[in-house]
Amino acid sequence: MFAAPWGFATAASSLASLPAMTGLEVAFAGRSNVGKSSLINALTGQNALARTSHTPGRTQDLIFFSAGGTLTFVDMPGYGYAAVGKDKVAAWTGLIHDFLRGRANLARVLVLIDARHGLKDTDKPVLDTLDRAAVSYQVVLTKVDETKKAALDDTVAAVAAALKKRPAAFPDLVLTSSRTGAGLPELRASLARLIAE
Ligand code: GTP
Ligand code: MG
Repeated sequence: MFAAPWGFATAASSLASLPAMTGLEVAFAGRSNVGKSSLINALTGQNALARTSHTPGRTQDLIFFSAGGTLTFVDMPGYGYAAVGKDKVAAWTGLIHDFLRGRANLARVLVLIDARHGLKDTDKPVLDTLDRAAVSYQVVLTKVDETKKAALDDTVAAVAAALKKRPAAFPDLVLTSSRTGAGLPELRASLARLIAE
């Protein structure tokens, strides 16, 4: 599944321009710069698939990547701070929430949290939307290569405790690094089970 060549399918800047639904979709959500696009590249093994940047606000539309139609990854703009105007961020945020609560073939949302920072207030609205819409989501900690073990353990415990109160959240966190490849086999296996269901 992940070995198949992945390609860009389409970009959508509004609900009206969403592509037709084919197969299952997995969306990547998270604050600006958390590493969504990098994780898509790391999971697919195609480093130039999604555009990444040091500057928050790189991904500006919903971007659909697919491998043969069975599985589609949806890269999304980040929420929170971005190096673009407030109006643009507000428009993205509306689009993200509408998409997440209304897309019938959205099989799972990966909510990315920077392992150095943990869960922030800016993450909560998306978790609330997913819980209310009963869309299954899994929290993925990113950039674990930048953390020390003791601090990472504290973050994992705090995030896991917060997720216990959230009905649509998977209890298990995945700890990843797109830089070192840590956690990617587990995450791929988890997504493969989703397809097999
Ligand atoms: P927006 O599209 O702007 O919301 O950002 P994004 O969440 O798609 O983040 P992106 O993948 O563009 O990565 C942001 C920055 O984090 C880039 O400089 C990446 O190189 C860096 N980065 C991403 N993943 C990792 C990781 O696992 N470890 C480290 N150390 N840096 C990472
Ligand atoms: Mg991006």
